[in-house]
Formats: sequence, structure tokens, C-alpha cells
Amino acid sequence: MNELDAIVSSAQSAFAQASTPADLENAKARFLGKTGSITELMKGMAALSVEEKKSRGAAINVAKQAVEAALNARRQALADAELNKQLQAEALDVTLPGRARGTGGLHPVSLTMERLEAIFGSMGFEVAQGPEIEADWFNFTALNTPEDHPARSMHDTFYVEGGSAKAPNLLRTHTSPVQVRHAVQHVKQHKALTDAGQPMPEIRVIAPGRTYRVDSDATHSPMFHQCEGLWIGENVSFKDLKYLFTEFCRTFFERDDLVLRFRPSFFPFTEPSAEIDIQFQSGPLAGRWLEVAGSGQVHPNVVRNMGLDPEKHIGFAFGMGLDRFTMLRYGVNDLRLFFDGDIRFLSQFK
Ligand code: DAH
Repeated sequence: MNELDAIVSSAQSAFAQASTPADLENAKARFLGKTGSITELMKGMAALSVEEKKSRGAAINVAKQAVEAALNARRQALADAELNKQLQAEALDVTLPGRARGTGGLHPVSLTMERLEAIFGSMGFEVAQGPEIEADWFNFTALNTPEDHPARSMHDTFYVEGGSAKAPNLLRTHTSPVQVRHAVQHVKQHKALTDAGQPMPEIRVIAPGRTYRVDSDATHSPMFHQCEGLWIGENVSFKDLKYLFTEFCRTFFERDDLVLRFRPSFFPFTEPSAEIDIQFQSGPLAGRWLEVAGSGQVHPNVVRNMGLDPEKHIGFAFGMGLDRFTMLRYGVNDLRLFFDGDIRFLSQFK
């Protein structure tokens, strides 16, 4: 084997051994680099005669092209190998079954709220909202709650820092403050009408939402849900409230034979006041009286705080526990299940 063939064959085997592009470039330097063997041979031609240069130059060129061809072939092979490796790593088996992305659903208490809004909506009630961080004034004082009422104590109410009697300073303990907030707005909204001697349109509103109390066991959660109702007009009576609430309960529970009982009670913001009990005639709860709401005729002091004349306007209010309504409707026996966020429980309501 002559010298040139030897160089070509050692280049071919050096390139074949290079297993990465970096190895290959190092191997290339040994043959084609500044001091590589092919380059050195070319430099050596300077001392040759013109004739010798021609034949020697042609031979070196053939060798050089062979080395370059081997280099390019190896470059291509390494690049192909790299690409194959990548393709294999990213292999996608399109025949595999897809991964299910379970659909979500509404929380059972949200379902109750939606149901409530639809039923009361069909009876001419609008839906109002109020802030969950409420002012002492709306939560207690405007609702005729005396300064020394036990509900105001730190044991029952979550207070927040800052605030004052009229600025937000507590987490509302019930949805009743929305009664006053909404009525004040309503009175303002229809002021032009009443100033002109026209009667004010009736107030018919419900206010569902979150409420808070320092309380926690199987039937109490520090955060729970209530819905307030308010109906104020010039000619509304307890009979209307009883009819309204009976219709609501029968529609909500889908039981035509459900019966109601108003039991005398006390709330600072109503006089007289009544607790509303319901009774199913069939099913697992049949025959038991179940307390579901507080209600009453809005106290004259509260009517005044709404900006209305108690001699002229009479109103009825009610407040119900939405978590309790949800438990009764679906037969759930532990309130905490609603707030644990366990998908196995929640997915049953989809
Ligand atoms: N706010 C009362 C509570 O949380 C419930 C209630 C009772 C609301 C009587 C009313 C009502 O509107 O008239 O216990």
C-alpha cells in the first residue's frame, strides 16, 4: 500500500470510530487540519519540479477527496443516527386509547342556589348580592340588634382588623344585611316615582350567599350558606309569605304533599317572628318536623332604616340555610362532606 492509500485508509477507520460529531471533527483535524497529514503532504510539494508537482498534486488530490468523502459520509451517518434516536424517543403510539379528561360539575350547594333562583325568579323575585366582609351597621345595628346582643360577641362573630361601625369590620353572620342594602337601593332607584306621588314598586328579592360564624362540628361549619328573602309592599301579609314559602318548598323538593308549620320565635329584626318547619309525608324523613328557615314581619325600626315609612310599608322576610336544604334534598347526613372537596362525593351530583 502506498503512503497516500495508507493515509486514506487510516482516515476512514478514524472517522468510523468517531461516535459523536465532536469526535469526528477532532479526527478530521488530524488529516485535513493545519498540521494534518494531507495538508503536510501539500506543503511538501513546494520543493518539487513542475512535472513532479503535476502528477504528485493529482495523486494527493485524489487522496484528499477520498478523505473528504469519508468525512461527509460519517457526518451524515452520525446526523441520521441522532435523528433516529430522537424520533424513537418521541415515538407516539396513535393506536393507544385516549386519556379521559373527566368533566366537572356544579357543587351541590351551587345546584341548590341555581334552583332557588329559578323558583323564586318565576315568582317575581330578583337576586341581590352583598359583601361578605360587612359593616357592623348592616349586619347588626340596622337590623335592630341591641348593642349587648350575644350574637355580637367574639364567640360568634369573626371580626376583621380595621373598620368601624359603618365600615366593613366583620364577616357577615347571616345574609340579612342584604335586606337593608337592597331596600335602600330600591328606594333610591324609585325616588322620582314616589316623589311624584306614585306608589313604589314592591320589593321582592332573594339574596343567596356565604355566611360565617365561629362554629364547627358535624352540623356546623365556620363558613356556610344562607338565602335571604324580602317582600315589601303596601298590602302584603303573613298569608302571602306562607303561600310563597309553601309553593317554594313543594317545588324545591318536588313534593306536592309537603306541609309547613310556622312556629312562634324571636329575631330582633322581625315582629312577630316565626320558625318555619316542613314535614315530608313519605320517604325516610316522613312525619318529622324539620326546621328550615326563620321568618317574620320586618320590624318597624328596620323598615325605617330601609328609608321607608312603617305606617305605609309592610314587609316579610325569611332566611334559610342552603346547606340544610341541600342535605335534605339529597339525603346527605354530614355537612362537612360539602366542604372536604372529595371528588368521589361531589361527582355524584353531576
Ligand atoms: N338571619 C337569621 C339567622 O341567621 C335568619 C332569619 C330569621 C332571617 C328571620 C330572616 C328572618 O329574614 O325574618 O338565623
